[in-house]
Amino acid sequence: APLRIVAIAGSLRHGSWNRRLLEAAQALAPSGVRIDIVDLADVPLYDGDQDTDETRPAAVGRLKQLVADADGVLFSTPEFNHSVPGVLQNAIDWVSRPAMRSPLAGKPVAIMGASPGALGAARAQQQLKLVLMSTLAHVLPHPGVSVAMVAEKFDAAGELVHEPTRQFLAAFLAQFSTWIRQVGRPASAAA
Ligand code: FNR
Repeated sequence: APLRIVAIAGSLRHGSWNRRLLEAAQALAPSGVRIDIVDLADVPLYDGDQDTDETRPAAVGRLKQLVADADGVLFSTPEFNHSVPGVLQNAIDWVSRPAMRSPLAGKPVAIMGASPGALGAARAQQQLKLVLMSTLAHVLPHPGVSVAMVAEKFDAAGELVHEPTRQFLAAFLAQFSTWIRQVGRPASAAA
């Protein structure tokens, strides 16, 4: 059966490198794998008083349903002060409830990151791995994708043109797809 992957970039910027990396992943996905990019712009700050079935913001409900229905979730995180941007942590916090049986529990997930700097958001990716493990998501253990000096790897039209990165990303997506088939449950059973 075809796999449906939901992709989340931890950036709201129109020109986000991490969203561009997800767009490159869409184009490089193995056949039979569909990647849909989710926008976090309308997700408000977490408020426990609003986190009830009666009061939950509509955008949060949509995000949770998208994750529940997906076979896997692909994250691309920027690095802010050596960690995960609040925008992404906040979205995960919403989706992670109720603890231990949220849409992330048992969900295969994989992590990428891009930065103009030399480390390719590697520190943020390590932080994100721990955050996701706390939700009982099944995090692809290895590899991650760290796109360093990202501005040099895309052209002016926003295309990923750095050939070694394209090849690495394609191989990574194939491994993630195998991981999903190994550890994932049918999305309908997990929802
Ligand atoms: C940054 N940036 C950054 N880069 C990095 O490699 N390590 C870091 O710790 C930080 N810290 C940091 C903090 C804050 C508050 C901002 C706004 C930025 C730079 C960051 O990698 C850069 O802005 C990226 O372009 C952000 O990702 P998107 O929006 O392009 O996906």
